[in-house]
Amino acid sequence: MDTFARFEQAIRDALLDTTLITADLIDLVAPKATGVQADLALPCFRAAKIRGSNPAQFAQTLANALKFSHESLVLKATALGAYVNFSLNPITFAQSVLHDISQGKAGYGRSNRGQQQAVVVDYSSPNIAKRMRVDHVRSTMIGQAIVNIYRSLGYQVIRMNHWGDYDPQLGISLAAMQHFQHRNGNGESMLASLEQQAQQYQADDQVHDLAQAWASKLASGDPQAISLLQQLVDLSLNANQANYRRLGVAFDVQHCESFYAREAQVVIKEALHYQIAQLDSHVAIVKDLLDEQGKALPTLLLNRSDGSTLYITRDIAAIKYREALYQPSKIIYVVKQAQELHFRQAFTISKTLGYTKADLAHVACGMILGPEGRANPHPRFSTTIYLEPLLDEACARAKTLLKQKAIEAKTAFTSEWLNEVAEQVGVGAVIYHNLQHDPAHDVVVDWDRMLAFDGNSAAYIQYMHARCCSILRDFGRLPQNYNGRELTHPAEQALLKELARLPQVIVDAADRYAPSVVADWLYATAKAFAIFYDACPVLKAETLALRAARGQLVAATAQALRNGLGLLSIAAPERM
Ligand code: ARG
Repeated sequence: MDTFARFEQAIRDALLDTTLITADLIDLVAPKATGVQADLALPCFRAAKIRGSNPAQFAQTLANALKFSHESLVLKATALGAYVNFSLNPITFAQSVLHDISQGKAGYGRSNRGQQQAVVVDYSSPNIAKRMRVDHVRSTMIGQAIVNIYRSLGYQVIRMNHWGDYDPQLGISLAAMQHFQHRNGNGESMLASLEQQAQQYQADDQVHDLAQAWASKLASGDPQAISLLQQLVDLSLNANQANYRRLGVAFDVQHCESFYAREAQVVIKEALHYQIAQLDSHVAIVKDLLDEQGKALPTLLLNRSDGSTLYITRDIAAIKYREALYQPSKIIYVVKQAQELHFRQAFTISKTLGYTKADLAHVACGMILGPEGRANPHPRFSTTIYLEPLLDEACARAKTLLKQKAIEAKTAFTSEWLNEVAEQVGVGAVIYHNLQHDPAHDVVVDWDRMLAFDGNSAAYIQYMHARCCSILRDFGRLPQNYNGRELTHPAEQALLKELARLPQVIVDAADRYAPSVVADWLYATAKAFAIFYDACPVLKAETLALRAARGQLVAATAQALRNGLGLLSIAAPERM
C-alpha cells in the first residue's frame, strides 16, 4: 500500500472506531471548498440523513469524536459545513514517502495489480517494403510506453508487432527487391532505395507486367517468389531494428498478416456457419451487425471473390490466435485513429463468434505533422515524416544545445559524454513530445518546444534529474539516520506530495491507456523540485539534521524521476 492509500486507510479506521458511521457511508473525496487546507474530505449528507440529524451538526460531532496518534499519517480532522476535512501529518507523511521510495528503489510506483493476467499489446505494426510512416512512429512510442506501464503493474505483457504484408503493390515491391537482391545493406536507406525503385516501376508499363507476374507467382506458392518475399520481410525487419533499438523498443512476437491467412479461412467458414455472414457470389458478407453499444455497423466483406482474405478477417483470426495462446485479459491495439471503424467491426465479430473473453481496446493515435502543421508541411519532410531523420535531427540539435550549455557553464566535457547524452536527450525529446498529450491528439514537430530546457519537455525533466544527481555527488555518502522530522517547509511538502502520487499515476495511466498521465506527473514533479531547490538550500542547510533530510528528499526525487522516465522509455543521464 502506498502512502496515500495508507492515509485513506487510517481515516477509514478512525471513522469506524467512532461507531458513528458505517463503512458503506464513507466516501472520501478531494476537498472541494477553496482555501481549505486539507488533503481529503468526507461529505456527511448521507450519514446525517440516516441518523436523522443535520449534515453540519453531524460533521461536527464526528470530527469531535475522531482521534489520531502522533504516529498517524493523519494530523487532524476539522468540520467545515457538511464536510469533515482531514489533513496529512507532515512529519509522518515525509517519513512514509521517503521510506517507500528508499525501499522500493527502481520498483517504486510498481504494484502487482495485474498478477496472473496477460495483456497483449499490438503496436508499431508497419508494412513491409516501406519505411515506417508517421502513424507507425506514433504507435511505436505510445505502444512501448503502454507496455512499460502495464508491466510495472505486474501484468504479463506480450509485445506484438503485426507486420502488414498484403500491399496490393506487393508485386512491384518484389520486382524492386529482385533488382536490389545482390546489393549489400540493411538499413533504412536500403528500404528507401527500394521504395524509390518501386515508385519508378509504378510508372513503367513493362515492369507492370513483371509485377503482375510476381504477384501471381506468389499467390500460387512459387518458391522463388516466396524466397524473394522472405528477403523483403527480412530487409524490412532489419531496417526498423536500428530505430527500435534507439527507442528502447523490442517485441516478443513479430508475425506478418499472412501468418493468419489460413486461420482467416476458418473465420469465414464459422461466420457463415453461424449465419453472421451470408454468401453472395462467393463473397461472405456481414450485414446488420450491432456493436457493443447497440450502434449499427456498416456492411462489410470477409473475403474477395477470388477467395483471398481481407485485412479485417486476418485481424479476427489474430484475435482467435492470441486468445488460444495467451488467454489475455486485454488486447490493446495502438493504431491510428483512421482505423476506428475497422477495430469496432473486428471486435464485434470476434465477440459475436465467441473468439475471446478479453477486453478489446483500440487506442486511437493522432498523427505527427511537420513543423508547419498539416496544411503546410515542412519541405524537409515533404508530406511524410520518417523516423530516422526525425531522431537524427533531434539528436543533432540536442548536441548543439548541450555543448553550448556546457561552454556557458564552463564545465569540462568529453566527446563521449556529449555523444551519449545528445542521443539520450534527442531521442527523449521525440518520445516525450509524442506522449505528453492524449494519444488521439495530433503532434506538430516543434523543435524549440521539444528541446526547451526550461519548458514542458523531456530535456527539462532530464535536467532536473541530473541536478539531483549532481547534488548527491557533492554529498558523498548520504547520512542514513534521518528521522524525517525536518521536512515541513511548504516546498518540501509539495514535492513529497508529487512523489507520493506515482503509484496511483501508473494505475490511472494504465486504465486510461494514456502515457500522458505519466508525462504530466513527471513535469509536475520536476517543477516541484525546481521550486524546492530554489527555496531550500540542501548542502548548506541550517542544521546537519536538515541537511541529511533534504539529501534524502533529493535522492528520493532522483529515484522517482528515473522510474517515471523509464516508464516512457526515456533515459535519465546523470550529468547534463
Ligand atoms: N499495418 C497496418 C497499417 O499500416 C497497421 C496494423 C495494426 N494492427 C492490427 N492488428 N491491425 O495500417
